[in-house]
Formats: sequence, C-alpha cells, structure tokens
Amino acid sequence: MDEVATGRIDVHSHLLPGIDDGCQSLEDSLACARLLVEAGYTHSFCTPHIWPNLPENNVVNIPKRVAALQSELDRAAISLRLIPGGEINLRPETVRVGIDEVVTYGMSRKHVLFDLWADKIPPFFEPAVRHLQSMGLTAILAHPERMRAVQDDPSTADYFQELGLLLQGNLQCLGDPPTTQTRQVAEQFLAEDRYFMLGSDLHNLTSLPLRLKGLRRAIEAAGEEKVWQLTRDHPRQLMHEALP
Ligand SMILES: [Fe+2]
Repeated sequence: MDEVATGRIDVHSHLLPGIDDGCQSLEDSLACARLLVEAGYTHSFCTPHIWPNLPENNVVNIPKRVAALQSELDRAAISLRLIPGGEINLRPETVRVGIDEVVTYGMSRKHVLFDLWADKIPPFFEPAVRHLQSMGLTAILAHPERMRAVQDDPSTADYFQELGLLLQGNLQCLGDPPTTQTRQVAEQFLAEDRYFMLGSDLHNLTSLPLRLKGLRRAIEAAGEEKVWQLTRDHPRQLMHEALP
C-alpha cells in the first residue's frame, strides 16, 4: 500500500448510489461523502449488500461502480478516497462459494465483511464461517450489537472470538437512545474492547448525522486514542494492496 490514510477510514457504507437499500441518487451519495469528510474521514470502503437478489453486486461490477463514483467526487472536489468492498449476507449456501466470487475488502481476498440477522445462531453459521476462513480469509462480523441472538446473550461474543471472527460495530448504535439494546450492547462491547473497528453503515443523508453522533459518543466513552485505533489504525490493515 503506497498511501497511508491519515484521517478516518469508513469500513462499512452503502454509499454507491442505486444498487441496494443505501444511497438512492448521486446527489445523496455526494452529500453523504461531504459529511464524512467534514467528520474527518479521508477514505471510505463502499460495501454494498451482497444478496442473491442483487446479482449485479459482485467482484467485477463493484470496482467499476466505485471508480465511477470516485470520478464524481473528484469532479465535485470532495476529497474522499473510495475503495471497493461488500457486505456478504451469510447464508447456508455460503459454504459453496468459491474464492473467485467472494467480495472482499479492496477485492484483495484477505478480509471479508458479513452480516447475519438471527434470533438464535443458526446451524449453518459455523460451517459458513469456517468455509470463508478455509479460503484464507479473515472474517469480520458486521454490527453484532444489532443481532437479537447477541442482545439476548452478549457473551455470544466469546463464541465469535473462539471462531476467530473480528467484530465491526455500528456507529449508529452508539448514537441510539441509552435505553435501547443496540446502544447498551455497543457500549458494553466498546468497554470490553471487543470491536476490531467501527463503521458508519451509512445508507442515506437522513440518518448519517445520527451515525456521526455515535462517533462522538464513542470518543466520549472510550477516548480519542481508542477511537482512532478503531476508525483508522485497524481499518488500514484492510487496505493491503487495494490502492494503486
Ligand atoms: Fe450494511
């Protein structure tokens, strides 16, 4: 990697316009990117949903979409560097996915971000994770604090750790009202140093300010140094040879 990020690096965002439930227009993407820059971000991975009903979101198309949005950012003089990625939805079929088709951070086949929505950890969870790891990938679970299974039993994080998973917390959950389970679990995991990194998981301009409020709350709770580690130093490890 030639370039060393000096600002924050967003590791989870639905910034690419019109390809999932994230930003729906170029204007929305540009406005979100401006806010990120104002909040101190210099880089952002674009991690659209990788769902069976969104077959266009794949290893070939995502880098092209990222390049197109980068051109628009450059044209608008918004100094945010974009890097391709994706958010894989873990499914029973994940055990059959080949390395060529796995969308990874920077498409560098090193780190993969996945999400799972579950009231209970399903039987396919461990085989699917093991399969990703067997291909040499470090698997990162997105926003565990949003999973019912984790809210019901936060010690599920011990199991994730035993499996060798890294955890990505959502900034928004730290900006949620203090009585919510998402906020409570996120604060607990932050205090227990469970997170490898924090991401915005931004979807649109409307909810981005709340997510950035969560960034300020994280700093308040864990301190500047810790949050730099979670939003810059650890995310740098995902960049590898992703940038030319
Ligand atoms: Fe997401």
